Amino acid sequence: MWFFHKVRYATTRWMGNFRNKHLPLKTLILRVASDQNQLMFASIAATIDSMQVLSVCRVLELSRKHNIVRAATSIIRQRANVRYYSDKPALFSSTQDGQNVVNIFNNTYIVDEFTNITPSIAEKSGRKLLKDPANPLSIIKKLIESNFPPQEYTVFDPPEPAVTVYENFDSLNFRSDHPGRNKTDTYYLNSDIVLRTHTSAHQGHCFRTISTPGFLISADVYRRDEIDRTHYPVFHQMEGARAWSRDDFATEEELIAKINSDTLKIPSPGLQIIDSNKQFEESSNPKQPGMSPELCIALSNHLKRTLEMVVGGIFTSIRQMDRDSADKEAVQIRWIDAYFPFTAPSWEMEVYWDGDWLELFGSGVTEAPVFDMAQVPNHVGWAFGLGLERLAMLLFGIPDIRLFWSTDLRFISQFESGRINRFQKFSKYPSTHRDVAFWLKEGSDPKDFHDNDFMDIVRDHAADLVEDVKLIDKFTHPKTGRHSLCYRIVYQSMERTLQSDEINALQDNIRSEVAKTFGVQLR
Ligand code: DAH
Repeated sequence: MWFFHKVRYATTRWMGNFRNKHLPLKTLILRVASDQNQLMFASIAATIDSMQVLSVCRVLELSRKHNIVRAATSIIRQRANVRYYSDKPALFSSTQDGQNVVNIFNNTYIVDEFTNITPSIAEKSGRKLLKDPANPLSIIKKLIESNFPPQEYTVFDPPEPAVTVYENFDSLNFRSDHPGRNKTDTYYLNSDIVLRTHTSAHQGHCFRTISTPGFLISADVYRRDEIDRTHYPVFHQMEGARAWSRDDFATEEELIAKINSDTLKIPSPGLQIIDSNKQFEESSNPKQPGMSPELCIALSNHLKRTLEMVVGGIFTSIRQMDRDSADKEAVQIRWIDAYFPFTAPSWEMEVYWDGDWLELFGSGVTEAPVFDMAQVPNHVGWAFGLGLERLAMLLFGIPDIRLFWSTDLRFISQFESGRINRFQKFSKYPSTHRDVAFWLKEGSDPKDFHDNDFMDIVRDHAADLVEDVKLIDKFTHPKTGRHSLCYRIVYQSMERTLQSDEINALQDNIRSEVAKTFGVQLR
């Protein structure tokens, strides 16, 4: 009972300021303290405003240990974020002088022909899942961070996802015609500003400003993508990097000796490693021009030992948490040659899990121009990027990427800060599908119709009620030569059974929006 006592105590102390103005809040907290009823709590929370919800979170956090309160805190926090967004001005508006603008992140961006951010994406950017200590993504983030010595690596959590095109692409050596820059792949606020497509966008800033030799950056990233169990337009990455300055050493031999001695200090991982010592190869995975083979090898070794140590650390912690898997064999990993515009040589690290090799990290030796553009010339080092959802799905056994965003108590009550446990599946609500078929405009080529444009319309109308969208049929009329496309939308909620009326209404809206936006003729 101590925690109720604590809530009551904190409540009475802290209620002083609110006594008359915020009566529903008082009622709410007292109910939580006495009824112990999380569902009631959640439903009341839905009726009060976001500032009050946030205040309740703060009080409840005092008693985080208790299950009910933890679950309720989490749901309230998520609601608060959603509400935080709905309290904001409309995403699009026009100024007094008739200028169309995007209002987001407490800023205003002038709309131009690149603007393609949508309301459903804007709402997601307000959720901040990594700030919720009980979300599996932030549990993984913390676990990885705990393997890096803080005196060597600074943790940097960038505030908002709006970055310049320069930061996201140019500063990382992306060619001007790289497909990642296309509007079909990336969300633009306008032609200068994008929602970061990867955490690498902050490398330059961190190399320039962070005083430790290494850093870790974790954040939400955005890509216009298909919809299915493992793809979502918003996901989370962790970036890591480590640098040495040539200016700190009299000769290159000394620099290499220091890197090698730093490598020896990295704890050994207890993994089975395939191809760990694979070096650069001029034909398939070349080193950078101007870097000596010895330096390239020293940096590659430091990079590989570091990532092996991280994976080893993660699996050791899991073994300690989960006694059932204590006597499983060593985890296997392997290194595969890769290509990234900002590293050479480059590798991916794969881990063997459930009978499959799964890519975990992209990594490599940072290209000299990246350091130059970050205004720290004369540096050498390496970097890596990791998809947090993928690792969390694997470690917690979470089957669908949409679950990370769920506010269903059956989901959020299963997780606790600092602990990795197997997700217990709860019954899946039934799914049902509807098709959208249409004729493209006369003379238009199906290649010019982009799946991702269709996906965004679906997302804007049906958000997380959609499990999957696929192009299931393409057809050319033998006489008229007109092309027809048919997309199948699978509707399924993580939280309830959807009613046909509701799906039909969503489907109607999607159909008319598709007709209007693309000028197609519905079939
Ligand atoms: N930014 C890359 C991506 O999103 C991942 C990555 C690869 C990051 C290599 C790195 C790196 O720092 O060195 O696919």
